[in-house]
Amino acid sequence: MVVINGAAARRIGATPERYLSCHEWSQWASLPAARRTEWLCGRVALKRAFLDLCHGAVRDLEVGYRAGGRPMIAGHDDVYCSISHSGGWSTGATSRIPIGVDIEAVRPRRAELLRYITTERERRLVRRLTVAGDDLLTLLWTAKEAVLKALSVGLGVHPCRAEVTAIEERAAVVELAADVPLCPRRWNVRMERIARFYHSVATPCAASGE
Ligand SMILES: CC(C)(COP(=O)(O)OP(=O)(O)OC[C@H]1O[C@@H](n2cnc3c(N)ncnc32)[C@H](O)[C@@H]1OP(=O)(O)O)[C@@H](O)C(=O)NCCC(=O)NCCS
Repeated sequence: MVVINGAAARRIGATPERYLSCHEWSQWASLPAARRTEWLCGRVALKRAFLDLCHGAVRDLEVGYRAGGRPMIAGHDDVYCSISHSGGWSTGATSRIPIGVDIEAVRPRRAELLRYITTERERRLVRRLTVAGDDLLTLLWTAKEAVLKALSVGLGVHPCRAEVTAIEERAAVVELAADVPLCPRRWNVRMERIARFYHSVATPCAASGE
């Protein structure tokens, strides 16, 4: 997994010329200027994460999408990929097992949002955590979104249907509601606070079959 921003990308010489294929270059060039750095950094993060996992050269890698919108490295159907961006930072993860990542800046949110994205059972469960308020909301949001992105549905499934059933400050178990027809059903999520961001990585629980 690689987390990077524009300044870090510049330091390592991760320019569009070095990191984007011709097709990606035209996608990048058509983006609004304000989106370009994050988008490029998503590709840089994903490609560097891929090269930590597999042999290859960055010039041969192109990021595409599977049906549903989940990113992939073209020609490597056996590698699971995920990208996320927030506030100038991007994260990319690759794995031989399903994986989803989400990064989100902590910022003031409406209090009702917690009720919108969590069930009553989850709100009882998180009462014993020391984290609260916008931190708690962002932590839970990234944990759920990482799972829903690993499943390729994103917010096509309501966050309450991916329920946190166990949680500590840096780890959680998220389970899909019975009526959600997707697999794997149980996910381990590792959550980390990085500066003003929460970053979550979801992978299936060992006993949660495909
Ligand atoms: C996936 C989704 C949750 C991303 O939300 P976000 O917080 O704005 O964005 P993030 O920065 O965390 O993630 C963006 C990345 O997720 C990836 N992504 C997009 N759709 C995805 C999906 N369905 N599953 C997994 N990953 C997805 C992309 O790689 C994207 O980065 P890129 O544009 O640089 O390639 C959101 O776009 C979504 O829910 N999309 C699906 C909605 C949908 O299908 N609705 C249908 C029912 S009406």
